[in-house]
Amino acid sequence: MEKILTGDCRVLLRDLPAESINCVVTSPPYWNLRDYKIEPLLWEDGWRGVHGLEPTIELYVRHSIEIFREIRRVLRSDGTLWLNLGDSYASGGRGGSPLHGIVLDPFAGAGTVALVARNLGRHCVLMEMNPEYVVMAERRLAGLPVAPPITEQAHAVLP
Ligand SMILES: C[S@@+](CC[C@H](N)C(=O)[O-])C[C@H]1O[C@@H](n2cnc3c(N)ncnc32)[C@H](O)[C@@H]1O
Repeated sequence: MEKILTGDCRVLLRDLPAESINCVVTSPPYWNLRDYKIEPLLWEDGWRGVHGLEPTIELYVRHSIEIFREIRRVLRSDGTLWLNLGDSYASGGRGGSPLHGIVLDPFAGAGTVALVARNLGRHCVLMEMNPEYVVMAERRLAGLPVAPPITEQAHAVLP
């Protein structure tokens, strides 16, 4: 079973009960790499903009902490986090989700994590702000062909 939630994961995460997720597998926007053409958000420190497009790496890290604090709340104490950030991979080192456990990807993009979770017999909760990616994820999960989202063509690879 997969559930796709459209919106800002910081807001959507608040609706998940504490310790309800077995495993988080996610690839957040990297710093200064891509413009996902999504609505600017207001952050706790007063900055308004899109995660990944912060003017400094320090601000990017601060906003990552703001998001991952909430992810920590929904993750079970025996859960695991698999973070794909740039070229580096990090985890708690305790393996993945149990069979029939719940996997969360708060930055779902086209839904690759849900496809893998399904193949491995896990449930999955996806969160994604860009509605075009949500449609892509829905189509992929339904086994339908997908075209790249329109904004993919507009993605700027930043200097
Ligand atoms: C690196 S991509 C994820 C790629 C994904 N693993 C895939 O297979 O397509 C990051 C995604 O996070 C989304 N995003 C950025 N800020 C977000 C937020 N606050 N809440 C939810 N999604 C967000 C972007 O729209 C983008 O699709």
